[in-house]
Amino acid sequence: MTEAARERAAAAFVARFGREPLGVAFAPGRVNLIGEHVDYNDGLVLPMALGEGTAVAWLPRDDQRIAAWADDFAASDEFAVGDPKPAEPIDWRSCVRGVAACLPEQGLPVVGAELAIAGTLPRGAGLSSSASLSVAVARALCAVAGISPGPLPLARAAQAAEHRFTGVRCGIMDPLAAAAAPPGQALLVDCRSLACEAIPLPPDWSVLVVLSGVERGLAEGEYNARRQHCEAAARALGVASLRDATAELVEASGALDPLLRRRARHVVGEIARTAAAAEALRRGDLAGFGRRLREGQASLREDFETSVPEVDRLVAILDRAIGEAGGARMTGGGFGGAVVAVCDRARADEVLAATRLHYRTPDGRKPTAIVAA
Ligand code: GLA
Repeated sequence: MTEAARERAAAAFVARFGREPLGVAFAPGRVNLIGEHVDYNDGLVLPMALGEGTAVAWLPRDDQRIAAWADDFAASDEFAVGDPKPAEPIDWRSCVRGVAACLPEQGLPVVGAELAIAGTLPRGAGLSSSASLSVAVARALCAVAGISPGPLPLARAAQAAEHRFTGVRCGIMDPLAAAAAPPGQALLVDCRSLACEAIPLPPDWSVLVVLSGVERGLAEGEYNARRQHCEAAARALGVASLRDATAELVEASGALDPLLRRRARHVVGEIARTAAAAEALRRGDLAGFGRRLREGQASLREDFETSVPEVDRLVAILDRAIGEAGGARMTGGGFGGAVVAVCDRARADEVLAATRLHYRTPDGRKPTAIVAA
């Protein structure tokens, strides 16, 4: 898949600009195994890079302008290096312009470039297509400027671009996964210290990603609203962030109204579940891992309210097919998008067959699946 995106970006570059690119940058999408809506609460997350992602073919140009071609949309953009303005409407251009605007704040210079972009990720599926685009563009622009920074400044520039150019107050998980996650391993990230630990997946586990077919839009306000609830809950509890709250404090405090209590309960429980899931992963304990996925889904459904009925149905189908040896949950921001399932490799085909037999997308199709590991 990486190669498919790279080849398409390179071919699109030649077709658009009439010459060969000097290089092709790539950044993957991610599936989050567990740790949902906790990155902006200084919590623990456990994403994993996908083979699918975004490739950006690049060539320097000497007039301090950036010309970009998005092959998937057959659309172009051009702007002066020092003066990228937010795009109207918000779309792929927001990521390109946002990254060009935010890289210098990380001490990374931006110079004129031609870029051709091609991606293999489904959009609106909660698999981080925009972080993949932003990090790939950041890598390409750095390569044009002759530098190859580490993952953290790339991720920070991509996150700032999202905040300022799309209005979504996302956490660090997606750009950091796109910039740092090694293929085929889970990446445990402490979003407070930003310490990362790659944990290999046992060879007999399968990670399946099944698309519900319900498209999600992060910018639609619900995401930012959840973030505000968490900040309000932390303020009411007198802690710097919900990372510092305990389950006892959340349940006993008189300072939380019922809504904020449920939001805080999810975050505090999810951080503990992620730590426990990472431990189960290290031990190769598939049943223990799966139990945390199921508990996480219940919490997102009941307390954080980011699941939707179609996703709940798909998760239930997967849970029934998997049984105790693994589990399933929504992945990403929620309100539609994809479901992640972890199961015994020997049973993966059977599990996917169950989703094709029992689940239909809102427009009546069998669901699409990606085998992530
Ligand atoms: C989106 C955001 C992330 C994270 C997830 C929920 O993917 O971009 O920062 O908050 O939602 O876990």
